Amino acid sequence: MVSICLSESGFVPAAWFPERARRLIVALAAAWLSFLPASILAGEASARTIELNAGWRFNRGDQTGAEQSAFDDHGWRLVAVPHDWSIEDAPGQAHPFDRNAPGGASIAYTQGGLGWYRLKVELPRDVASRTVLLRFDGVYRDARIWVNGQRAGSHAYGFASFTLDVSDKVKPGPNMIAVRVDNEQPSSRWYSGSGILRPAFLDILDKVHIDPDGPTITTPRIADGKAEVHASTRVANTLDHAIRARLISTIVDADGHVVGQAETTRGIGGGANLGIDQDVTLDRPALWSPDAPNLYRLVQEVRLDGRLADRRETSFGVRSVTFDAEHGLRINGAHYLLRGGAIHSDNYMLGGVSLPRADERKLELMKAAGYNAVRSAHNPASQGLLDAADRLGMLVIDEAFDAWTSPKQPHDYSRYFAQDWQSDIARMIASGRNHPSVILWSIGNEIPELTQPVGHKEARALADLVHKLDPTRPVTAAVNQSGPAAEPFFAALDVAGYNYFAERYLPDHAAHPERVMYGSESFSDQAFDYWTPTDTMPWVIGDFVWTGFDYLGEAGIGWTGFDDHFGIGPYPWQLAMSGEIDATGRLRPAAYYRQVLWKTHLTPTSAFVEWGGALGSLPDKTAGGPHALLNWKQEDLHPVWSGFGLPSDYLPHKVVVFSENDEVELFVNGRSLGRKPVSHATEYKAIFYARFEPGELKAVGYVGGKPASQWTIETAGPPAAVRLHVDRSRIQADGDDLAYVTAELVDAKGRPTYMPESDKLLTFKVDGAGVLAGVGNGNPTALESFQSGSRSTFHGRAVAVIRAGRTPGAVHMSVAGTGLTAANAIIAVEATPSFPVSSRGRP
Ligand code: GAL
Repeated sequence: MVSICLSESGFVPAAWFPERARRLIVALAAAWLSFLPASILAGEASARTIELNAGWRFNRGDQTGAEQSAFDDHGWRLVAVPHDWSIEDAPGQAHPFDRNAPGGASIAYTQGGLGWYRLKVELPRDVASRTVLLRFDGVYRDARIWVNGQRAGSHAYGFASFTLDVSDKVKPGPNMIAVRVDNEQPSSRWYSGSGILRPAFLDILDKVHIDPDGPTITTPRIADGKAEVHASTRVANTLDHAIRARLISTIVDADGHVVGQAETTRGIGGGANLGIDQDVTLDRPALWSPDAPNLYRLVQEVRLDGRLADRRETSFGVRSVTFDAEHGLRINGAHYLLRGGAIHSDNYMLGGVSLPRADERKLELMKAAGYNAVRSAHNPASQGLLDAADRLGMLVIDEAFDAWTSPKQPHDYSRYFAQDWQSDIARMIASGRNHPSVILWSIGNEIPELTQPVGHKEARALADLVHKLDPTRPVTAAVNQSGPAAEPFFAALDVAGYNYFAERYLPDHAAHPERVMYGSESFSDQAFDYWTPTDTMPWVIGDFVWTGFDYLGEAGIGWTGFDDHFGIGPYPWQLAMSGEIDATGRLRPAAYYRQVLWKTHLTPTSAFVEWGGALGSLPDKTAGGPHALLNWKQEDLHPVWSGFGLPSDYLPHKVVVFSENDEVELFVNGRSLGRKPVSHATEYKAIFYARFEPGELKAVGYVGGKPASQWTIETAGPPAAVRLHVDRSRIQADGDDLAYVTAELVDAKGRPTYMPESDKLLTFKVDGAGVLAGVGNGNPTALESFQSGSRSTFHGRAVAVIRAGRTPGAVHMSVAGTGLTAANAIIAVEATPSFPVSSRGRP
């Protein structure tokens, strides 16, 4: 019998499994039957995974006795996990912000505090004879967990995955899982969110099973059209007697063909955990790279006398990655520069919730904008993000910590570092090691003690542990100090990350010719100055702008009126405004500039208009103190052709044209304002001054004197209607899948509006097979709810997120505003296709 299974009552298919992979599996189900060897078809694995996403009861605040099974929680709210309470409307008001929040601008004036979650789970009769594991991909933070009133474990770090063996605490029938989360403030320098922020699972396994972290898959040799795949797998026998287990590891390619297999039989003593090494050679492997993110699956079965005890699938890629100061970064022998963006983990209108689709969308938008790398600042990435990076071909620097022993915030990770750093490093590596997208492990960001002997010792200890746990990837860190006192810290690293230090690339190369460097952080408005050395110095392998995607917290650092103190963004500033892609996913002008700088050919020519003087788009620009530190700002350019309310004889407007062509010409209503050369010498920019008249502003790029690209902006009239754009009109009924719906205001001729006087309050209504999970507009100062469905547009738009329920059907959405023609959308929520429920995935 084939192990394509049925969900039982109370059990759902392992819905965290990446959506595309899921679809692939369905499409391949038939092929599966014909290609898989008989051994795989011979039985049904007894392993099952329950995704713990629906049906949690939640209480904001502490409650005595809430860990007890009998505790009465019927007054608690029902929530879906992943869940973040900090982004919800605060009690008694229609937004989450609080002027007196102890985290202040750092965490977007939101509250942390304490919360409780409780979930009743029905378990089958045979559970007493199973190994039962509770897995969390991330609970922010200081999580304590009870099962049926018994303490099952705890985990402090909010961004590390963890697994608890709860076999001796569960029973057949109803079971109660209680999770206490304590986000004591201030705990972070940016918005983290509070709660069970990443997916959670319950695995019910045979007593003989593959280690919950799965195998370690490496590709030690790729040459002559072949790849050696090495899988090192731990098989646990938690029975009290010895067994003989057969581990069958089958490699399946993207088309569902079996391309290699290894089989090993071993005796495993009672209570033992045995490592089994297997090697498979692949012929003509489809290599993984950012341009061709080919993936394979390692399908593993543990058999005991023919009975299938466990089954597990692990996705992996075959690629070689080398770093050296002469050739830089090479993937499968080809040279790559890291066109990077640092990112934080929040998903804006969803708060700190890391649903796989939200993380995937972030990377999808970055990839489409020309980035090929992200730095997961400053914490381990979620599984959803790593899975998406593998599928999309995004390179990842996975980072462990923002602080070691010296705190940056009173209640940050430094409180736990001494006791937990080894296990948290191990968790990061266990979660990320089989992801071909991960190319570097970063042990830290701007560690305050990095110039002190204690910091040097810590750096060596962390780097040694990483090397021990994963000898295949180099160790890096983001360093913001230079000079002799920082050198011992650099010496502990294989690849040196420089935060805002492009001027060190030459002198440090002279002193350390072997050193491989990259810009782990750089300023967006100095993109040209950071990219030029990256492009020309072979030992500099890339540059990561702070930031690729905008984020909540560090409010206002990209505001042109930001002054020289962190946390100064005055209330109610909430967004950093340093993202080249804004928090809703819209490319800001700086992102278009990068496309030109990187010669991506994505948007060869674009033009933006400076919003004159004090009438810039950001409110209260002149408030908040001296304008001392403007580094994270971006030019005050806008995709709008407007008079900005100024008199018609006002000075001409500055228009900045970005182009990778040889020349550009600007037209207003068809009249040329002349042609200008663009090249490295002009930093790929041309500046024009154009007097406003309503109509069309057009920039044309020329190559060899011939038009090669163009960009137009039209003056919009007053808003007349709402226009919706749905990113995915079909989503899965798995309780996690998302559709992003962009609501745009358009004038009577369908032209999008942009100016603040056109912005409107909209009402988002959602009925049917999903819920409204959040709405955001990118306004850095809006005192509005993310969740009520009442939200204004900002620069003419707002983006809503619909979260699927677990029953197939349709979601009906309507968006309306006073004086506007309303718009409707229907999203199909489809049954999650059957796939082997017994396939356990990561983490
Ligand atoms: C850097 C730091 C980032 C962020 C950035 C902008 O120094 O590493 O986490 O804080 O400054 O404020």
